[in-house]
Amino acid sequence: MPTSTLIRNSFAAAFRVVLVAVVALALSLVAVPPAQAAGGGPSITKKYFGTLSGGKKIDIYTLRNSNGMRVKILTYGGILQSIEVPDSRGRLADVALGFDKLSDYVKQSPYFGCITGRYANRIAKGRFTLDGKTYQLATNDGPNHLHGGNKGFDKRVWQAEPFRRHNSVGLALTYTSPNGEEHYPGTLRAKVVYTLTDDNQIRMDYRATTSRPTVVNLTNHTYFNLRGEGNGRILGHEMRINASHYTPVDKTLIPTGKIARLGGTPLDFREPTAIGDRINSKNQQIVRGGGYDQNYVLDSRGHDLDLAAKVVEPESGRVLEVITDQPGLQFYSGNFLDGTLRGTSGHLYPKRSGFALESQHFPDSPNHKNFPSTVLRPGDVYRTTTIYAFSTM
Ligand code: GLA
Repeated sequence: MPTSTLIRNSFAAAFRVVLVAVVALALSLVAVPPAQAAGGGPSITKKYFGTLSGGKKIDIYTLRNSNGMRVKILTYGGILQSIEVPDSRGRLADVALGFDKLSDYVKQSPYFGCITGRYANRIAKGRFTLDGKTYQLATNDGPNHLHGGNKGFDKRVWQAEPFRRHNSVGLALTYTSPNGEEHYPGTLRAKVVYTLTDDNQIRMDYRATTSRPTVVNLTNHTYFNLRGEGNGRILGHEMRINASHYTPVDKTLIPTGKIARLGGTPLDFREPTAIGDRINSKNQQIVRGGGYDQNYVLDSRGHDLDLAAKVVEPESGRVLEVITDQPGLQFYSGNFLDGTLRGTSGHLYPKRSGFALESQHFPDSPNHKNFPSTVLRPGDVYRTTTIYAFSTM
């Protein structure tokens, strides 16, 4: 072959390589979702997280908003596995306690980040009467029923449907709980929609319908540490709760039925106060909970979406506001954590290294006529919304 032909051929080959590269690059740009191509807009991706012993595969979805805030959600328990938010200098940290392995969630999770149901919180002796019929639920917390029983919503696999809008991204989770599951009456169709907005809010919209009269009380059980999970205790966080009443409890943490005033007690958080300031007080209610573990009767009484609590962490400058339309808020200061669980980033979680603010109906409502009703009947729709809003000082 003459040299000139050889050169022409190698030029043509090089040209083809460049052409293929240019086309591939153009195609890859087209394949990027439009919201991402437009400069880091909200996005959602899915990855495999683990397999349950029965063979079911569990996914983890990563939601990212335009500011870089990131939330990870598991199809197991609808768990908020990680919530990365900036501090006042823009540095991200994961502020939700959790695990990096599915087996830890299955074996030993104290309800980290999960959807809690069918009845979040306690029902005395696991028993209630509805329309003249008495139901006996599991007693999985001393003499009482807690957080939906032996296998509540926190241990179920949810169907996930991701979505993306202009200023937000989200995951719709659904689970159908068959009639009689955990001995609750009625087939309950539950839906929880998590939305991460561009103003750093996690919005949770709950919906449920039933085939028979039943009781329902759903919440999210995230443990927060605004310093970052695994980064010490939560005692320096300043807490404000918009409640002037609460529901005092007996020795087994079941409400006595009284709606008592908070004024003058170390449980009163109407003025911002560090969680640690009064946590070792000899107040009988604090002693019974081993710290804070109380249901606050919100002053908004559950009418509209309203600010229920505001938490400020002075060192990082991170701020969490809980906004809800629920009548109650359980403030739990992580008293049962005991330093044996190793969390997401490999650190042990000591006592009081996370707190939960569980928007909900009052504990044991099915046994207290003076509490707002938690009964759901066929044809009615259970609907409630809670927002975790993050900002900095
Ligand atoms: C709720 C309860 C606490 C405890 C935790 C989970 O917050 O009120 O007493 O059971 O859940 O450990």
